Amino acid sequence: MDRRDFLKHTSLLGVLPWVAPVIAAVPAGRESMLDLSAREDTAQLVDDGGPRTRIWGYNGQVPGPMIRVTQNDWVRARLTNRLPVATTIHWHGIRIDNAMDGVSGLTQDAVAPGQSFDYAFQVPDAGTFWYHAHTRSWEQVARGLYGVLIVDEAEPVSVDRDYVLVIDDWRLGQDAQIHEASLESLHDWSHAGRLGQWLTVNGKPLEKFAVEAGQRVRLRVVNTANARVFTLSFGKLQPHVIAFDGQPVTPRPLGKFLTIAPAQRADLIIDMAGDRGESASIDMMTRREVIQVAQFVYEKPSDANARPVAPPMSGLPANPLSTALDLVNPIRTGLLMEGGAMGGMQSAMLKGERRSIQELIKHGAVWAFNENVGMTDTPLVSARRGQTVVIDMRNQNRWPHAMHLHGHHFKVIEREGGTVDDDIWRDTELLQPGESVSIAFVADNPGKWLLHCHMLEHQAGGMTTWLEIA
Ligand code: C2O
Ligand code: CU
Repeated sequence: MDRRDFLKHTSLLGVLPWVAPVIAAVPAGRESMLDLSAREDTAQLVDDGGPRTRIWGYNGQVPGPMIRVTQNDWVRARLTNRLPVATTIHWHGIRIDNAMDGVSGLTQDAVAPGQSFDYAFQVPDAGTFWYHAHTRSWEQVARGLYGVLIVDEAEPVSVDRDYVLVIDDWRLGQDAQIHEASLESLHDWSHAGRLGQWLTVNGKPLEKFAVEAGQRVRLRVVNTANARVFTLSFGKLQPHVIAFDGQPVTPRPLGKFLTIAPAQRADLIIDMAGDRGESASIDMMTRREVIQVAQFVYEKPSDANARPVAPPMSGLPANPLSTALDLVNPIRTGLLMEGGAMGGMQSAMLKGERRSIQELIKHGAVWAFNENVGMTDTPLVSARRGQTVVIDMRNQNRWPHAMHLHGHHFKVIEREGGTVDDDIWRDTELLQPGESVSIAFVADNPGKWLLHCHMLEHQAGGMTTWLEIA
């Protein structure tokens, strides 16, 4: 199926900033339980006046309810499955207790229709995270099973506005319904993954954020798309990046574009330098089009004389990550990423048996890590707690991949053979075709952890492996 051009956004509706129902903090020890029921419902993804789209959502919403807690709080959430199929929730980017990681078949059994499962975990890091289905994710996330999880810093960070921008692309038919026939499209699985032609921001076609001149805005951008890498332009705005994937970085100017791969997050600080009556927009760039996704609208300042000069930007407080890498004696392993259209893969191992590409295709098994399609009996890496693990990833195919490690954040230490010296700790890293990237992390979280491509069709098509930390 050919990707169609994005439909044009024809009307600009709604002037209120997105106010998602916030499920408040649940202090440790208290018995309250957040209720997340996974169910079918409808959502107004296209402009008002157009049809509502049948989705799957947490509490029937897309995005699901925003969960907002403070660092070191406990999250207690009861997933009740009101869907016709089994499901689980993964808390993406949270350095979590392994039993709560939500990976069906690895850390828990999938929750059957009509059943429920109680998640309870402490959040060690402040930052921007998200949660999503982790059972047949390629279908369940495409249908809308995701939401944002914000962990506030213990000491509040001083900004005037704190906004979230959840960006997703949907493949809708002309009836505005999810195009179901292409969910298992081999073409998508073997190419870039499922790309949609309808864009939503916070579950609607366009977002408007109210601001006042002189205000400092924290903007949390979350890419929840199955497979699309977004390139966002901020026009005349001059954002600074303060965090990637929930981990603080030394504040730095964004530069011209924000490139954000599936599952990645970026926290930006934007000082609103415009004037009343003006507006500024965030646009998504494709090769052929520029699509407005959000607009900042300047409102009358509450005190017309107050134009505070923003204080210099200081970084966010550090999270308690183990950043002391032992690069002298790490456990080091290679990860060769092969397959896909025009990738020339001839055969690979599937469940312990070598199969030809013709046989693999019949199973939708079109990608391999180290010649294995999908999960193997033995982990890619077995580490003892506290050891440093280095994984040399080589993207030897024609497609970009967003590699995600569960339960940890890692640092890129080498790119294309050259040393990287930066303070960026991520949970998802984008590798361009042909690119080699080495990541390192301290294996300080015991359990069985996935490492997979977050282009969800690639994950399902074979780009999944796991690590064991004892
Ligand atoms: Cu956000 Cu294994 O995924
Ligand atoms: Cu991929």
